[in-house]
Amino acid sequence: MTTTNATNAAPQEVKRRVKTLSKDLENAAHRYYVLDDPTISDAEYDRLFAELSELEQQHPQLASSNSPTRRVGAPPRDDFKKLNHTTPMLSLDNAFSLAALREFDSSLKRHLGLPNEATIEYAAEPKVDGLSISLEYGDGKLRKAATRGDGKTGEDITDNARTIKSIPLILHKPVPGILEVRGEVFISKKDFREMNRARTAAGDSPFANPRNAAAGSMRQLDSAVTAKRPLSVVFYAVPENAQELRDDIPDNHQELLGWLAELGLPTMRAEKCGGLDALIAAVNDIAQRRDDFSFDIDGAVVKVADHQIQMELGTRQRAPRWALAFKLPAQQETTEVLGISIQIGRTGAATPVAELRPINVGGVMVSSATLHNAEELARKDVRVGDTVMVRRAGEVIPEVVSVVMEKRAVGSQPFDFPTACPECSSELLAEAGKVVRRCPAPQCPAKRLASISHFASRAAMNIDGLGDKVVRALLRAELVQDIGDLYNVSTQQWSDLRLVTDDREVRFGQRRAAKMQKALGDSRSAPLWRVLVGLGIRHVGSHVARVLADALHNIDDIIAADNAQLCAIRDIGDEVAASLVDFFDNPNNLVLITSLKGSGVFGENSPAPSDAASGSTPLMGKTVVITGKLQHYTRAELQDLIRRHGGRATSSVSKKTDFLIAGADAGSKLEKAKKLGITIVSEASLNEILDN
Ligand code: IVH
Repeated sequence: MTTTNATNAAPQEVKRRVKTLSKDLENAAHRYYVLDDPTISDAEYDRLFAELSELEQQHPQLASSNSPTRRVGAPPRDDFKKLNHTTPMLSLDNAFSLAALREFDSSLKRHLGLPNEATIEYAAEPKVDGLSISLEYGDGKLRKAATRGDGKTGEDITDNARTIKSIPLILHKPVPGILEVRGEVFISKKDFREMNRARTAAGDSPFANPRNAAAGSMRQLDSAVTAKRPLSVVFYAVPENAQELRDDIPDNHQELLGWLAELGLPTMRAEKCGGLDALIAAVNDIAQRRDDFSFDIDGAVVKVADHQIQMELGTRQRAPRWALAFKLPAQQETTEVLGISIQIGRTGAATPVAELRPINVGGVMVSSATLHNAEELARKDVRVGDTVMVRRAGEVIPEVVSVVMEKRAVGSQPFDFPTACPECSSELLAEAGKVVRRCPAPQCPAKRLASISHFASRAAMNIDGLGDKVVRALLRAELVQDIGDLYNVSTQQWSDLRLVTDDREVRFGQRRAAKMQKALGDSRSAPLWRVLVGLGIRHVGSHVARVLADALHNIDDIIAADNAQLCAIRDIGDEVAASLVDFFDNPNNLVLITSLKGSGVFGENSPAPSDAASGSTPLMGKTVVITGKLQHYTRAELQDLIRRHGGRATSSVSKKTDFLIAGADAGSKLEKAKKLGITIVSEASLNEILDN
């Protein structure tokens, strides 16, 4: 339908079109932001959006406050209106030890008059580190949104809430009367990193952490600003009074979450726990998986699952009796910058690193943190002597997030990025249009150290005992120059090698020498993909390496492949192909490969997956997702098995998923797979399929 037609159309028709457009846009947003399974392209979304905006402009009487067009923000306001919470928004009592969790269980039993042997059913879920929010729906339409405030009165942030795409403006099922739901607004770790990168690039100061960013974004008087922030939301509760007022609310926590999800509200998975032991296991599991969540968590929340029992337990002043927050150590701390050094990586990249006064961040001692590159360092304006926020999240290297400006000493000087390599004094060069500066010298000892250490690392050849310190000793003794030389060091030379530890020299010795020779010997039969990773070719990590090895089977064919042949391989794009061609065009690298071949490293080529190639395996070309607790395999083993059978292991369920392998206690991925009609296979039946 064109706009001209719409303008001339009878209001009834326009009305219908506005309704359809609103519904389609909301549905598209839900598929995209909540189910992670888009049904229309971004361009199509934009077209529908533009059409709706235009119709609303021409017929303002049709522009409802719940129109998807409101998601871009309402006119700025002078301050926030106050909103009284009908049921107070409570806080939670904290526990910092498993002992406190045990005490929680016993105190509940005392309260309920239950014997200590009784079992209480609990739910355990992540404690999302964000900003709490309360939404009110009236007859299924979003009416109000409020912050927690002091628990009794919050701020009216309705306009801002409307801009969050995963908040349904209209519930997906009829819910007559008033429904209040409570949850947490947050920014995912990935969105946070991207947003801060964009902010510093634009000259804006970065946010200290995702929680501050989320809170700051929700408290914007101009909701158009909020609309531009990558906010997400998750719901985990309905206030107690609602449970008395409404009879359609399920009376158990798990079912409540299921019901909320059916209404279109994003929820997360809560682990069902029959009794204290299961609860402790679930809390431990959440703590262990802390880094795997896509958002920051600061603990686990444990709740009595049954609403009837929740009511019986009731609440105290500040917090309910039936829930407890099990807190995890903070992942961000402030500390002092003692110095800034430049590290040269195996590609010569010069990375500025802040040397820090050692500090415990989330249970790990941190004494240095990356500043990424010269430009990033200049933008954050980190100086020696500054107090900085340091963040460690997951496998990601600790980083300096921002400077605490109030604590900057007078007379401090901006850091002067060196123009020469600190190791070999070659002039550092930046490629055109790139921010990274590199040491171009092939002989740079820092590059040699980094590339040999990388080759030996667990992610590549996994050579036990060949760490930085040993490699440094080898370089110092001039026994090696590159990875090819590793295999030519004699047992005697190994034994005589001198290591420097704490300014003391220690001989490597015969026992270690023998062990090292064995580890090196074993590494000769490492699969091809590991050698490929070990070569340190730009953009070739374990996934690309496996794909290459599976497609071409031996190093000679990989060297011989041209750009077009490489690009024809699934998952190999232009950039990777160009990098491979570049690497194998370099005569030095060919010499290196010949030397490795001479040492028997490429002797054992990765076996051609013959059954896979003939297309006879049921996993050939299939996309597989693994979820839940596995019994017979580790996750990595199973991913490997899938790859070896010609399949692809991915992490999230979408329409493109062919199989879901579901272990015990599978949660949201299983639900989603069921919804999408994806074939679900148990671990046991997977073995049967593969055996046949
Ligand atoms: S339940 C009556 N569940 O933690 C208790 N809260 O420290 C309602 N929070 O104010 C809260 N994740 O903002 C609950 N899974 C979760 C949560 C959670 C984060 C926040 C919430 C609360 C604060 C208490």
